[in-house]
Amino acid sequence: MLEHDIDHVLFSEEALRQRVSELAAQIDRDYAGKEPLLISILRGSFVFMADLVRSITLPCTVDFMAVSSYGSGTVSSGQVKIVKDLSEPIEGKDILVVEDILDSGNTLSYLFKLLDARHPASIRLCTLLDKPERRTKPVAVQYTGFTIPDEFVVGYGLDYDEKYRNLPYIGVLKPSVYGGEK
Ligand code: IMP
Ligand code: MG
Repeated sequence: MLEHDIDHVLFSEEALRQRVSELAAQIDRDYAGKEPLLISILRGSFVFMADLVRSITLPCTVDFMAVSSYGSGTVSSGQVKIVKDLSEPIEGKDILVVEDILDSGNTLSYLFKLLDARHPASIRLCTLLDKPERRTKPVAVQYTGFTIPDEFVVGYGLDYDEKYRNLPYIGVLKPSVYGGEK
């Protein structure tokens, strides 16, 4: 059972639902009169994206991009690879990048440079989780769900070694699962 590997629940389904609807309300207000393009960074943000987009009432469009920076460990390798690019050009569009978690900042600082070079009208970031203690590259973030301490979390789209994404809540993984101390 996946649940046995969870040390404790950090954000319940209810807490996530509540916070996601607050973020959507804020996005609705900030983008009033516009039609933002939400870009989900795969794979981690697919669950958050699905809930967020259904809470947003403005007309908006979606696209997906897949990047990899981690391999199977719990620490960023510092190398970012575009695994799947966007389906459409973004020139002149109001872009909202949707991420699961902002950690070292490696992935997003790289991605923002790449997207900026395609000349969108604007570009903002909405991340469900932020671990500011671990930041090594500065990244501007306009919408944050929750700020968390430096602990490895899984569930609600976030994985460890590609597993646990299907847990409906966010929990802290037992360090024994990834070979850390108990
Ligand atoms: P960064 O490039 O170090 O900011 O890493 C961002 C990516 O690392 C996220 O999109 C996640 O895929 C992954 N990541 C960072 N911390 C965690 C965590 O606690 N649990 C699961 N994935 C994480
Ligand atoms: Mg990820």
